[in-house]
Amino acid sequence: MADIKNIFKNNEKWVQEKLSLDKDYFTNLDKGQKPEYLYIGCSDSRVTAEDLMGLGPGEAFVHRNIANMVNNVDLNVMSVINYGVRHLKVNHIVVCGHYSCGGVKAAMQATDMGILNPWLRSIRDVYRLHKDELNKIANEDARYNRLVELNVQEQCVNLIKTAAVQQAYKERGLMVHGWVFDIHTGKLIDLKIDFPKILENIMEIYKLE
Ligand code: CO
Repeated sequence: MADIKNIFKNNEKWVQEKLSLDKDYFTNLDKGQKPEYLYIGCSDSRVTAEDLMGLGPGEAFVHRNIANMVNNVDLNVMSVINYGVRHLKVNHIVVCGHYSCGGVKAAMQATDMGILNPWLRSIRDVYRLHKDELNKIANEDARYNRLVELNVQEQCVNLIKTAAVQQAYKERGLMVHGWVFDIHTGKLIDLKIDFPKILENIMEIYKLE
């Protein structure tokens, strides 16, 4: 079992490292945050946020949940989006999924997962939306990887359905990005979702302002 005291030792070391490079490091952090990015990722312990992007404190506003979901009635993610976009005024929102995602895998099984059922249901909805494409993929691993990607894409669409994102796009050109972290190589893959085109396609129904 890990000794929790080590965390505090690590923290002391980290503080000393930061101060040795810049004695005003924490005084400056205390002045406030002005992050450029809002990162929405999976809670998976192997998929860190700042670390894999090479960012430090103050550079990314972060929200993580199981399978990087942007659920319309999840007060938590919706609060993060509203605060990040309207108050912190981030210019980029990233939804980052990852291969080998346990949440996505669970949504591909016929299993009762208890309280996770309603959460994973949204991933099953992604499967249903893209059933034709997914069912054509014979290899199960490849199908699983593709569902990870399509889930990211659909969560980007969910972001675009919010008034905050629609307004910020119009006002200052806020962009939404869909990425996948490839856990086998450590690389970030840009899915290159066509944000302005998706916006145009869904506005007929989802325009809020
Ligand atoms: Co995951």
